Amino acid sequence: MSVQISIEDTGDVFPCAETKHLLAGMIQLGKKGIPVGCRSGGCGVCKVKVLSGDYISKKMSRDHVTEDEERQGVVLACRVFPQTDLKLSVIGHLQKAIMR
Ligand code: FES
Repeated sequence: MSVQISIEDTGDVFPCAETKHLLAGMIQLGKKGIPVGCRSGGCGVCKVKVLSGDYISKKMSRDHVTEDEERQGVVLACRVFPQTDLKLSVIGHLQKAIMR
């Protein structure tokens, strides 16, 4: 099953399968310049903040997401699997790419 992900900063909405990570869904959006790095939670380029919705997150490097940030919904898109529709805001390296 697929859920809907909305990017609050741009109004973009894209589908993402519950079995795929958010970054995979974002790549399908086809925006040029979406930074895709390690895809395994180690490089930090895909940082986003989840504003609402439920998700499962896998292990993320503490160099990129502190415990405090994680509590506020800051996650690495390549480590997060949406379980319901999500609303998110892009931060860090992703912001420049998505805002084009
Ligand atoms: S792509 Fe490297 S942390 Fe997500």
